[in-house]
Amino acid sequence: MDAKRILLVIGGGIAAYKTLELIRRGRERGLAFRTILTRAGAEFVTPLAVSSLAESRVYSDLFSLTDEAEMGHIRLSREADLVVVAPATADLMAKMAQGHADDLASTTLLATDKPVLVAPAMNPMMWQHKATRRNVATLRADGIHFVGPASGDMACGEVGSGRMAEPAEILAAIQAILAPAGGRPLAGRRAIVTSGPTHEAIDPVRYIANRSSGRQGHAIAAALAAAGAEVTLVSGPVSLPDPPGMTVRRVESARAMQEAVEAALPADIAVCAAAVADWRPAMAAEAKLKKGSHQPAALELVENPDILKGLGHHPRMRPELVVGFAAETDDLLANAGAKLERKGCDWILANDVGAGSGVFGGARNRVHLLRPDAPVETWPELDKAEVATRLVARIAERLGR
Ligand code: CTP
Repeated sequence: MDAKRILLVIGGGIAAYKTLELIRRGRERGLAFRTILTRAGAEFVTPLAVSSLAESRVYSDLFSLTDEAEMGHIRLSREADLVVVAPATADLMAKMAQGHADDLASTTLLATDKPVLVAPAMNPMMWQHKATRRNVATLRADGIHFVGPASGDMACGEVGSGRMAEPAEILAAIQAILAPAGGRPLAGRRAIVTSGPTHEAIDPVRYIANRSSGRQGHAIAAALAAAGAEVTLVSGPVSLPDPPGMTVRRVESARAMQEAVEAALPADIAVCAAAVADWRPAMAAEAKLKKGSHQPAALELVENPDILKGLGHHPRMRPELVVGFAAETDDLLANAGAKLERKGCDWILANDVGAGSGVFGGARNRVHLLRPDAPVETWPELDKAEVATRLVARIAERLGR
């Protein structure tokens, strides 16, 4: 297949630095980039850095005669399979919503007949502002695709929604949009993916949780959707944006996650990537526990339902392919093999989460794929999105048309 061509419009925001990583990772995955760097964008990343990574020249000014002679703005937009705007600032989105065309970026965006994906990035107050809400609604109605923004700490020191999606998420969104119709081996298949941690309430303000970021599960859901599956993603509390093109159910506790999974059945494929808390407080206090009035009593815990095991042994609606994860610190393969048996799943991805592995919360993962009818596969350390792509390729081999 020919390399897919991305026209990347880099807007003026601190998140522009992340587009360098986006270009690098995208090229690893066979995408070719042309870039437009807005004047404000060039305040944050240099044309040289962008062109070196993209190995193509950077376009920046509509009124440059050489740019227009070499590659007019119309050709620039037409010779792309997808236009990606990252970071999409409040100003760029306002221009797009209004149809302004006063520089190369806005003119090209107005002239394009290709799908457009925007990755917004701005201060949380700007993202929440009524004007931005209106512009987002307009752009969505115009068929523009969105990825992010995520919530979390912002470079400006505030906390809230407005942080640009990570490069891996933008890439997953790109691939979901570009997946060719004929290359959708899981079309007509239904998939359920669990992702993220669970929060188990102690009282209204405290909970038990773990370090899972949801990155691996979300990437798997995106890869399944890109392969054509109809996906329900059941996610615990994460700061990632909802991936496009699927149904997302956000839950807090293991019990709520199990209910959402049950409600999403029947399915052909289930991938349990969530780090479900094995235990929850026996009683969640209705009011905040006060230091003065409570002894530092031991927390009484009760066991949570095992969602993966429930699917693996489902009496009526067992999915055809049930895939689990085994996070282990010792005897990785032996423990993972035993887990596969115990939970009644078909395949298991074993990952070493020992100290220093960086798997929990990190961007990369090192896994082994255990299948009873095939030799163990040990994959090198990969981006979580790439782990997802490989897993989905295996799933497609097994179930695809
Ligand atoms: N899992 C689940 N529901 C639970 C616990 C785990 O669905 N209540 C799933 C996870 O999503 C993962 C797999 O089971 O796919 C294994 O999770 P892991 O934490 O490695 O195993 P545990 O069941 O906690 O077993 P152990 O404590 O023995 O490691």
